[in-house]
Amino acid sequence: MIEAILLVGGQGTRLRPLTISTPKPMLPVAGFPCTEHQISRAKEAGIGRIILGTSYRAEVFEEYFDHGQDAGVELVYAVEDEPLGTGGAIRNAANHLTCGPDDPVVIFNGDVLTGLDIAGLIEKWREAEADVALYLTRVEDPRAYGLVPTDETGRVLEFREKPTTPEEIVTDQINAGCYVFRRSVIDSIPDGVPVSVERETFPALLNSGATVIGVVDEGYWLDLGTPLAFAQGSADLVLGNAPSPLVAGNVGDSFVDSSAQVSPTAILRNGTYVGPGATIGDSAIVDASVIFPDVVIGENSIVTKSIVSAGAVIGTGVVITEAVIAELAIIGDRSILESGARVFPGESVEPASTVKAWVD
Ligand code: GDD
Ligand code: MG
Repeated sequence: MIEAILLVGGQGTRLRPLTISTPKPMLPVAGFPCTEHQISRAKEAGIGRIILGTSYRAEVFEEYFDHGQDAGVELVYAVEDEPLGTGGAIRNAANHLTCGPDDPVVIFNGDVLTGLDIAGLIEKWREAEADVALYLTRVEDPRAYGLVPTDETGRVLEFREKPTTPEEIVTDQINAGCYVFRRSVIDSIPDGVPVSVERETFPALLNSGATVIGVVDEGYWLDLGTPLAFAQGSADLVLGNAPSPLVAGNVGDSFVDSSAQVSPTAILRNGTYVGPGATIGDSAIVDASVIFPDVVIGENSIVTKSIVSAGAVIGTGVVITEAVIAELAIIGDRSILESGARVFPGESVEPASTVKAWVD
């Protein structure tokens, strides 16, 4: 039985105000927390036991998943009182592993939606007798990620987390946030202190001559860290572009929970998800958006590439584009929410207002 560690302790700063009450990996994408999609894919790949490295709002995970009875995978929680960073979190979670020193341990960042062949990566790790195997993906603009150039045999040459100058952009290959580690390598990370796996552990391993290989995957990959990416990820699941056992067989232009009420004259398209108890009024258009449970969207409103959180009430004739509306917010009739606008939990926006992009 293979064990895994899932890193879900980040603050989700770029998704505020949605992450004030809910940790990023627990926000529903196409109706299920990202963590649940990841657990189901891990299970499919033969992983039987997962340690969740939690910190920020740790209790939310345990309340939802308990010990994994419903997920069909044993779930264990390693809670950090103070966030230990990605490397520190991996080391802290390793205290709960049961496997031997030479066994593989799969590690996942908790906010990526992928079609990565997890079992395939374990196989590549085994074949190469590697200390660490990393999944890599190619992106147009790698600046927000960890750059990982490799040689022609797949050996990792360097690890550059979030480059800041143009000269540092030496490759379009980035760390896709899924690794296979030899257990003993994890045990060598210092315990109980903050460590960044990207900025400290990987460079140190390369310096010490460890075998670190990169495996480029051309399949679906998306980091859900920003509001636009989050809405896109949900839409991609609904449309069937992103694979998840939880939505397979249910893909289409939109997904509407059976308890939602949608006017026959409303248009839902481009992967829109509508959650339980939501109401969509006459002639409203909801495009590539995520509508959480119990939201009300008034007639003639147009919602595009946006996230509307639980219980929010959108008036009539409202135009919302690339915006985030937190739970229980109220948006007055005929308001315009421009790209980048964010409305806080319970906040009321007066009718006919214009809300501009939110600046932190
Ligand atoms: N337990 C715990 N403790 N988890 C943490 C902590 C911590 O202190 N800090 C971050 N995490 C978790 C987050 O919840 C997330 O699931 C994951 O670690 C990665 O953190 P992000 O904050 O999302 O990092 P990023 O997206 O900027 O960059 C990382 O992911 C990229 C791919 O999506 C890096 O690993 C990059 O190298 C990589 O390219
Ligand atoms: Mg991320």
